[in-house]
Amino acid sequence: MILAPSILSADFSRLGKEIDEVVSAGAQWVHVDVMDGHFVPNITIGPLVVKSIRSATKAYLDCHLMISDPDRYLEAFAQAGADGITVHAEACVHLHRTLTRIRELGCKSGVSLNPATHLSSISCCLEAVDLILIMSVNPGFGGQTFIDAVMPKITEAKNLAAGRNILIEVDGGIGMQNLGMVLDRGVDVVVAGSSIFSRPDPGAAVREMFAVAQGRKS
Ligand code: DX5
Ligand code: ZN
Repeated sequence: MILAPSILSADFSRLGKEIDEVVSAGAQWVHVDVMDGHFVPNITIGPLVVKSIRSATKAYLDCHLMISDPDRYLEAFAQAGADGITVHAEACVHLHRTLTRIRELGCKSGVSLNPATHLSSISCCLEAVDLILIMSVNPGFGGQTFIDAVMPKITEAKNLAAGRNILIEVDGGIGMQNLGMVLDRGVDVVVAGSSIFSRPDPGAAVREMFAVAQGRKS
């Protein structure tokens, strides 16, 4: 399991420390939720903050762009130090071109699907995809409830990616109560926000999640 704590639920007044805690506890990625108040109702952070996170950690920066017309900002996020840039299929008019551009900028290309969007919308773009992000909540906020109806889509995404070098990531409403169930579907990357950062000790939450993943293997 690759664990990607979402800093959306972190305490931004001590962001560097909170990132340190989860990375020291074993989290390999840091999930950065970028929201524009247009594609989703909420507004969060931009390239400037990504740049400063970049200088604070060597962890893989997994930038999830929940923004309209993301092409306008790909270069800015790449230059800020993103390792992976994920765009929403619903926000891209020329998705294949956008994903190709992300790779040209030296980043891993990700495509995300809202709970209501079917995988068929990306089946023609797979050659340009490094990661498929299945949203298990409607994007916009941390701390929402996992939508069980997306579970079959996780399996479908695994099947679609079979034989290709594509990671499957799931984002939204994941905690100790449903982590095992999600991992059973073969997910590669797990995003977790509130279930990690709303705890007094985020590092302990990370260690517990890895213990669940380890327990499944043995
Ligand atoms: C939701 C974001 C998620 C969010 C997850 O729009 O994309 O990454 O931070 O938070 P939790 O784990 O609390 O659902
Ligand atoms: Zn996210």
